Amino acid sequence: MVDILLLGSGGREHALLAKLAESPRAGRLFVAPGNGGMQALAERADVDANDPSAVAAFAREQDIGLVVIGPEAPLVAGVADAVRAEGIPVFGPDAEAAQMEGSKEFAKKVMERAGVPTAAWRSFTSRDECEAYVRELDGPCVVKADGLAAGKGVIVAQSCEEALAGVDECFSGAFGDAGATVVVEEMLAGPECSLLALVDGEHVVPLATSQDHKRALEGDLGPNTGGMGVYSPVPIVTDEELEQMIDIERRVVAQLAADGISYKGCLYGGFMLTKEGPKVLEFNARFGDPETQVVLPRMRADLVEAFLACDAGTLDEVEIGWGDDWAVSVVLASAGYPGSYETGKPITGIERAAELEGVTVYHAGTKLDDEGTLVTSGGRVLNVTCVAPTFEAARDGAYAACDLIDFEGKTLRRDIGLRALAGRGAWEV
Ligand code: AMP
Ligand code: GLY
Repeated sequence: MVDILLLGSGGREHALLAKLAESPRAGRLFVAPGNGGMQALAERADVDANDPSAVAAFAREQDIGLVVIGPEAPLVAGVADAVRAEGIPVFGPDAEAAQMEGSKEFAKKVMERAGVPTAAWRSFTSRDECEAYVRELDGPCVVKADGLAAGKGVIVAQSCEEALAGVDECFSGAFGDAGATVVVEEMLAGPECSLLALVDGEHVVPLATSQDHKRALEGDLGPNTGGMGVYSPVPIVTDEELEQMIDIERRVVAQLAADGISYKGCLYGGFMLTKEGPKVLEFNARFGDPETQVVLPRMRADLVEAFLACDAGTLDEVEIGWGDDWAVSVVLASAGYPGSYETGKPITGIERAAELEGVTVYHAGTKLDDEGTLVTSGGRVLNVTCVAPTFEAARDGAYAACDLIDFEGKTLRRDIGLRALAGRGAWEV
């Protein structure tokens, strides 16, 4: 039996925890910090998830056999390095490899060396030079703060004015040190597709495709969010595009290895399916949120065994299968998200929703208050996932479950998956 410490508190971590708990090898389960839904499956560990030495000390003292790192911040802070230095297996890349997400400039340079397709780009540390370049482009472009900015450091600018405002935001410190270097990219068009892969330093095992809905409002309008809903697999992806995306991830991992960097964990490729083929928008060094909430429920594998194999370099010996079912997950958010919102609202109906066929409710921004009542505690509150034999049935099941759940200010998009159901032509407008 393997005792496990899982770091993080979102819907992604609840889905990871549920899948880890299914494994016959799972022993005691600890989470730091966890959320209102994870407490039923795991004990809360009183340790700062972003503090490498504190996490390593907890793992050593509790005789933990696997540390699973959910979010990017602990990876970039070097938590995996500190735990590996104790000889304890970790799921998640070391700090240097996590620069694939921690620095957009680093990732772009790796992509360039690996010769994989991505948007044309330039990076700047001088505001004047960056502004001059944006003026020269004189049209749509994408301005990105180099470092981690909690999903907010990307400005998709339709005009030179918007791009200049984005440059100003980055260099004036809106994203802290993350904006000290700015990447300006060519704007790409097409449907987006996420491809998560398990990686053990050498072998790359692609998981199922998924597609997030990043904008806050129906019709893909409004501000970018952490994700409002997701489905898997992505029916509009051709076999050829899938092969190309897998090949890109393999080449990137091989390039890192050639550079002396062993990438172990989940490599998340965010792709734009352009007319010239898939191009990389970004890499993340972790599972996606909410992509995990539709990918893991469809996966037929022992996740403890798979994660240990990623650390040990033996992923080629692990069997990972897939159901031929579909999964749709809808985010229930607090009114106002991704702007300011209220918290502490009691949540009802989760038990009834979870009784529906194929439905699982993953918690994100929830907590138990002092009286033990489940209340909202974040912008994205719950992920309501339904797995069913068809895309339509998975959508219907997820929305039926959403309608049984209530809290003051409950907000959701009603159009998750509709564009994909309409076919590839729905992106041609
Ligand atoms: P990123 O965090 O780099 O993936 O950016 C967040 C979102 O911004 C992506 O999911 C896309 O919707 C959009 N985006 C990023 N880069 C580009 C690009 N080069 N062209 C068009 N949209 C982009
Ligand atoms: N769903 C987007 C992300 O995890 O970054």
